[in-house]
Amino acid sequence: MTGNEQEYIKEAFDLNWIAPLGNHVGAFEQELSDYVGMDHAAAVSSGTAAIHLALRLLDVEQGDTVFCSSLTFVASANPILYEKAEPVLIDSERDTWNMAPEALERAMRDADKTGHLPKAVIVVNLYGQCAKMKELVDLCNAYDVPMIEDAAESLGSEYDGRKSGSFGTFGIFSFNGNKIITTSGGGMLTSNDEAMIQKARFLSTQARDPALHYQHSEVGFNYRMSNIVAGIGRAQLEAIELRVQQRREVFHRYQKAFGDIDGIEFMPELPGTHSNRWLTALTVDPDKTGIDRTAIIQALAEENIEARPVWKPLHRQPLFEEYRYYPFQEHHSVSDTSFEYGMCLPSGSNMDAEDQERVIDIMLTELKV
Ligand SMILES: Cc1ncc(COP(=O)(O)O)c(C=O)c1O
Repeated sequence: MTGNEQEYIKEAFDLNWIAPLGNHVGAFEQELSDYVGMDHAAAVSSGTAAIHLALRLLDVEQGDTVFCSSLTFVASANPILYEKAEPVLIDSERDTWNMAPEALERAMRDADKTGHLPKAVIVVNLYGQCAKMKELVDLCNAYDVPMIEDAAESLGSEYDGRKSGSFGTFGIFSFNGNKIITTSGGGMLTSNDEAMIQKARFLSTQARDPALHYQHSEVGFNYRMSNIVAGIGRAQLEAIELRVQQRREVFHRYQKAFGDIDGIEFMPELPGTHSNRWLTALTVDPDKTGIDRTAIIQALAEENIEARPVWKPLHRQPLFEEYRYYPFQEHHSVSDTSFEYGMCLPSGSNMDAEDQERVIDIMLTELKV
């Protein structure tokens, strides 16, 4: 927290706009869309809700396919299943760990041949690193398929001087507890299409038709962000640049400690991008270091320090194993390797050098350096 959250919450109480709406909601939408560089935004209850609304706005339904990055948190793809559509999972490439244009191109070509192009492509910017947006946007445009940019983890990151989350037809953001800014829980859907965002607000408040009585012609959701939550978001957003700087400092301290160790590789930062380094992620090659990432995670856990493996790719999840998967190349899956060797280190913005020294010492002991 920055300290200003209480001010905004107090203002909402003083004006007696506790819920559902009030001035903070509109202001937070405006401030976030200005920051990201998109024209419009709808504040909602979670990043997952924002993805779900994007799919609804694109008329995704049973019988449709939606392409999605495989190396991601399950929330990126769950809304595809809510709509009973078919996810097709796309592998990563090594330069960003994000969706591989090579694999997306093969998937698009195959889909085109059968005359069944996807209704949308969900591109994730993992751990703050932007995907290869130019190539991915060009491909989506070539096949005229809208992109939903999942920027839940990448608020504040930049690609080619533009903010992450501003490249797709829709951008989605999350403010859940572990994100770079948090409202305790919340999300945002952004777009340059005003009509779409207005429709998102309508759908997120139970799709109430304009009538004095309560009238409904289509299915809606209770997805709108409350005024209190939006007040927290406004104060948090004021601190975003500082948070990015803090996370990058955490990353640099780890890099200084382990960067020269043979067998340790940090998640790269693609030239022309600026990552918020939401989490510091790295791979540990057991053949070179003599230890695998699980043993390191366990050693940290024994000292009450939480580290986690890189997301288990969706094509390896029981929930998604029946669905098609396009690896980077035939017989070469990049996300499987990232999962097998990858781990995320404690990366909170409020970690001081002393906290981090504890993590580093344990790791160096385990790595026998
Ligand atoms: C990549 C990614 N997409 C989507 C989400 C969903 O966001 P939320 O937890 O706000 O629903 C998250 C985080 O939880 C995420 O990490």
